[in-house]
Amino acid sequence: MSKKSKNVELKAGEVEVFVMGKSYMVPAGLTIMKALEYAGYRYIRGCGCRAGFCGACSTIYRLEDEQKLGFDLACQKVVEDKMYLVQLPFVPAAKAEYDIEKIKPKESTLLEMYPEIARCVSCNTCTKSCPQDIEVMKYIQMAIRGDIAKCAEISFDCIQCGLCAMRCPADIKHYHVSQLARRLRGKYIDPRSENLAKRIKEIENKKYDTEIKKLIEMDKKVITNLYSERKIEAEEVGDLGGD
Ligand code: SF4
Ligand code: SF4
Ligand code: FES
Repeated sequence: MSKKSKNVELKAGEVEVFVMGKSYMVPAGLTIMKALEYAGYRYIRGCGCRAGFCGACSTIYRLEDEQKLGFDLACQKVVEDKMYLVQLPFVPAAKAEYDIEKIKPKESTLLEMYPEIARCVSCNTCTKSCPQDIEVMKYIQMAIRGDIAKCAEISFDCIQCGLCAMRCPADIKHYHVSQLARRLRGKYIDPRSENLAKRIKEIENKKYDTEIKKLIEMDKKVITNLYSERKIEAEEVGDLGGD
């Protein structure tokens, strides 16, 4: 950590943050992302949705005099006084090469593609690092066990930020493992949606072309009302493979 800033005078409503060791005064209440921009940095890498969905803005931080590192998304985490920031615009992690059309969802598939998952020492560091509060260690355990459906289900909210993989003592690339599980589940395990297939056919046969043209030309207010008053088809909620 860089030198301490004992003599800095904070104005009311300001906090001091450090970017690559350099001190900046920024308004309290800003997210890390906004604080960096306030400090003059242009966020052109490591930034996507700005809303906690894309996983591009991984950040590591440490508060002055604290031992513990913090992990979060720059667009979500609010700055704190004496926060030392390190941005991770990209987490290098090798992804297995596969053709989803050719591999099959066998019990051993995830282990074959990512043998390093067998080295998991159950330290739970990955779970503690996850800004999405996903039970990362649990989905890795499911991957080791060969339960692809469960691995996919537990990891469903993963945004591929890579913070888990940054800290794993076994060098596991959790998010690549779970992405493969979700792909296998989507392609081979879950039942096909007959309604979706039928609708695609109808679209291909131009069944809705006239209706869509009408909507495109419609007045904004009329279309907004139409949208809010639309009837929603009762959904059949299927079992996601969980217990
Ligand atoms: S950080 Fe790595 S070794 Fe530790 S529980 Fe997670 S996957 Fe296992
Ligand atoms: S599982 Fe890993 S990559 Fe996915 S959101 Fe959590 S920390 Fe990020
Ligand atoms: S910019 Fe997309 S999660 Fe932060």
